[in-house]
Amino acid sequence: MTATPPIAAASILSADFSRLGEELAIVDPERDWVHCDIMDHRFVPNLTFGPLIVAATRKLTRAWVDVHLMVERPWLMVDGFRAAGADSISVHLEAAPQTREVLRQIRATGAKAGLAVKPGTPVAAFAPYLPDLDILLVMTVEPGFGGQSFMSEMLDKVTAARAEREKKQLRFVIEVDGGITELTARTARTAGADVFVAGNSVFKAPDTRAALAGLRAAIAG
Ligand code: DX5
Ligand code: ZN
Repeated sequence: MTATPPIAAASILSADFSRLGEELAIVDPERDWVHCDIMDHRFVPNLTFGPLIVAATRKLTRAWVDVHLMVERPWLMVDGFRAAGADSISVHLEAAPQTREVLRQIRATGAKAGLAVKPGTPVAAFAPYLPDLDILLVMTVEPGFGGQSFMSEMLDKVTAARAEREKKQLRFVIEVDGGITELTARTARTAGADVFVAGNSVFKAPDTRAALAGLRAAIAG
């Protein structure tokens, strides 16, 4: 991975797509990630974008492109998003019953493999897969929409994953996604998170560059 944790990941879901190039110019390729939320109107009620926008993003920035698939049958889309330029691809545990197989499929493309878990999915459900992961993506809102409030109860999962990582000497990074602000990022950092996805708090801020810098500062150390 290009950057080392703690990492701020700017979620373009909240960006102005009519000026995506300008929006992405605030991202520091050496330090930040760009997070792309793919929604299919099936796994979640919302519908967003596909590989075309990821390919455009890839052309607009040298930063790590982190794709979060909130779709049914994600294995059918892995190759397409990798070809579009994704550096990491996360699938939802709830959408991937053949979990190990999909993770292997992602790795085989050359991308880093992530597993995302909804708020209702307990630690016991994802713990067996931790040795197979590059990224554990802990949802801190119900997936589907930007701008929701952070669920602090989810930090118990972060703490548990962190403890398991230490105990078993694993190497996945822990990403939190949903309702991340400077304030909630700080609490997630204390709980042990490494990557902090932020949509609204960055791209809906009056000064997006300052907002991203503020997030970086909040998670530093
Ligand atoms: C929600 C998405 C998030 C979203 C976060 O389903 O997975 O990545 O962009 O948006 P904010 O930061 O506005 O909660
Ligand atoms: Zn996301």
